[in-house]
Amino acid sequence: MTLPDPADVPRREFVKAAVALGGTVGLSACLGVNEGEGSGDDDSVDPTAGDDLDGVPTGDPDSVPDRQHAWNDSLPTDEDGNVKTPVHHVLRLVDLAVDVADPAAREEARETLSAALSDLESAFEWSNGGLLFTVGYSPAYFERFDGSLPDSVDLPEPTALTSLEDPAFDDADILVHLASDFPEALLAAEEALFGEVDAANGVGVADVSDLFEEVDRRTGFLDAGLPREHRDVEGVPEDAPIPEGAPLFMGFANGFAESQATEDRVTIAEGPFAGATTQHLSTLQTQLNAWWDQENHHQRVAKMFSPTHAAEDRVGEWGEELAADPAVADLPDDAVEYARDEGVVGHAQKAARAREDGDPILLRRDFPTTDGDHTGLHFLTLQESIADFVRVREAMTGEDIADDTGVGTRVNNGILQYVFVRRRGNYLVPPREYRSLPTPDPNADR
Ligand code: HEM
Repeated sequence: MTLPDPADVPRREFVKAAVALGGTVGLSACLGVNEGEGSGDDDSVDPTAGDDLDGVPTGDPDSVPDRQHAWNDSLPTDEDGNVKTPVHHVLRLVDLAVDVADPAAREEARETLSAALSDLESAFEWSNGGLLFTVGYSPAYFERFDGSLPDSVDLPEPTALTSLEDPAFDDADILVHLASDFPEALLAAEEALFGEVDAANGVGVADVSDLFEEVDRRTGFLDAGLPREHRDVEGVPEDAPIPEGAPLFMGFANGFAESQATEDRVTIAEGPFAGATTQHLSTLQTQLNAWWDQENHHQRVAKMFSPTHAAEDRVGEWGEELAADPAVADLPDDAVEYARDEGVVGHAQKAARAREDGDPILLRRDFPTTDGDHTGLHFLTLQESIADFVRVREAMTGEDIADDTGVGTRVNNGILQYVFVRRRGNYLVPPREYRSLPTPDPNADR
């Protein structure tokens, strides 16, 4: 991948490309474009990469919450009370290069990793303007230890969850999710943790480069207008009329407050991992040519929300009429009967069937991507147990609806026709206290 000339493209497009590229080249490019310099196409390590970043506040590890997934209090909300997830995201999947089943090696590696993570918290304020991150551990990671995870943790190996998919499974040991509104903060943190740079934002970061072997790097972004700016990839027509206000390639906003689980709801309440959460990552590819060329706005609203939303004009152009509530709670309970009457059933309407006592059970922190120069979505969710995710996914798939209702297994069944599951992975995101190389029995190991 090469960077565009910053003189030829808008700044937002250039920094998005720099995040996708990553490394010291991406970081130098981001810093360069901020200072009005060139595209940074020199691949040597930038000696200035650890310097203070303009406008990015440093942080204090003592003020960071106990739960790694406690981001919401540090994120802004819009005028309707919807939490605004950071704009730029990087997912790093890594294997361990050291034998952490050996207690001495584990202790040494743990100390270094703990120091590095704490250094990042010193280097960046725990916020969208600084850096938010989680460190999650896969079932493959825990397999190396004697003993199994406690019953309070539901962390199965990932599996295919619908008859429509044939995904590959992520089996990297660790998933690090880094997020920030400032691409240069994101890249500086990433380089300090995984690259050759030993400081970020003017703060030294312990060197953990020997601990990890890279498995994969994925990137994405979530902000109004960005999908429209990035229509020049496969999977979406170049002239798709994606509204300026839409943060998703499908032309809508998501993550309305009333459709999101609280951080408390997704937290494991009991047992040695109290304060943890589970994380699921689906790598979704989207094929949106027919979505934009053959469906009209009314049909898109019907398939994304519900036919009632389309008939009553509940959504507006991209969701601006919904305020904080996707307004799916008052739809008829019987989705099968509804589908029979309407011939179409909406995505949000189906997924909301898995709410518990009216409350959502997933906290979605998903974001669009153009990884591989193709539209997609990194569907990252937090929930108390992976079983909760499976339940919502089954409701969203709606195989029970596709029957004699006129709704097919894919066609007219929400957005299934446009979304393809390429990979799945499950992780445990321990509380901050145990975020560094935990064993299945973290108390016994201290
Ligand atoms: C390309 C993929 C996807 C897109 C573009 C998408 C988009 C949306 C949108 C626009 C909404 C309504 C606004 C909101 O309240 O957030 C929504 C709701 C929702 N989606 Fe998706 N979604 C996608 C995939 C999935 C998947 C794979 C799941 C499965 C687990 C899922 C689960 C949900 C849930 C649980 C809700 C909220 C329902 C409620 O209000 O209780 N979505 N999605």
